[in-house]
Amino acid sequence: MTQKPIRKAVFPVGGLGTRFLPATKAMPKEMLPVVDKPLIQYAVDEAREAGIEQMIFVTGRGKSAIEDHFDISYELETTMSDRGKSLDAIESTRFAPGDVVYVRQQEAIGLGHAIWCARHIVGDEPFAIFLPDELMVDSPGCMKQMVEAYARVGGNIVCGYEVPADQTDKYGIITPGKVDGPLVEVTGLVEKPPRGTAPSNLMIPGRYILQPEVMRVLEGQARGAGNEIQLTDAMAQMIGTQPFHAYKFGGRRFDCGDKAGFITANIALALDREDIGATVRAFIAEL
Ligand code: G1P
Repeated sequence: MTQKPIRKAVFPVGGLGTRFLPATKAMPKEMLPVVDKPLIQYAVDEAREAGIEQMIFVTGRGKSAIEDHFDISYELETTMSDRGKSLDAIESTRFAPGDVVYVRQQEAIGLGHAIWCARHIVGDEPFAIFLPDELMVDSPGCMKQMVEAYARVGGNIVCGYEVPADQTDKYGIITPGKVDGPLVEVTGLVEKPPRGTAPSNLMIPGRYILQPEVMRVLEGQARGAGNEIQLTDAMAQMIGTQPFHAYKFGGRRFDCGDKAGFITANIALALDREDIGATVRAFIAEL
């Protein structure tokens, strides 16, 4: 099957980040670093690795640090070059003009609404979505694995990840159908089901490949869980009209929207590093 390639990715980054106050009062939560790289950069790197060319950020007030991060910093670059220092560390923050697009979500009224704000830029082609709070670690990366699966089955694919039953009320949850290796047919989707009502333990960890029709569905989407316009509800309406699968991710996942998850991610990725891994390991052993 030949599928239209996935060229565009949407990054909803308009959220207030109230769970990380006071750190996120003036700084976007997406700029919180895991070791030495902001969360948003991990998501963008994962998109690039998957062959995605155009990055669409749905931003809000107070998020200009993200725009600056993906821009040229003349002072920094000139000073570093003059001192003979390598610019490798900021290489992946660079884009060709026009490959980074910003659209403003004026009110934070849900993930579904944030995605819908990008409808004119996404246009009539399939696209990816990354929730940068969710740090997905594997090689190849999560989205590259999903794009490969997409080349086989097309349609809509959400990432799937198993969590303990006492966590299912925090996420979008999948009703699984037929299983074919890592691909699971999606027969239902529910956002934040009350405890004890979840159809499975398979949650959606913030990676999606969706057909553009989802934008039409979002157009008329009523508010759902938390009185927000939910992407999960719009996706649920597409089941049956187009192929819909979950791709079970086998790598490591860190929910960096959560303080414990964020600290865990920093420890895990620090331990992986050649430059600081041994020092951090020794400290943990001492603890
Ligand atoms: C969002 C989505 C949810 C998904 C989660 C992943 O929820 O609505 O379906 O499972 O991200 O982190 P939020 O964390 O914005 O409440």
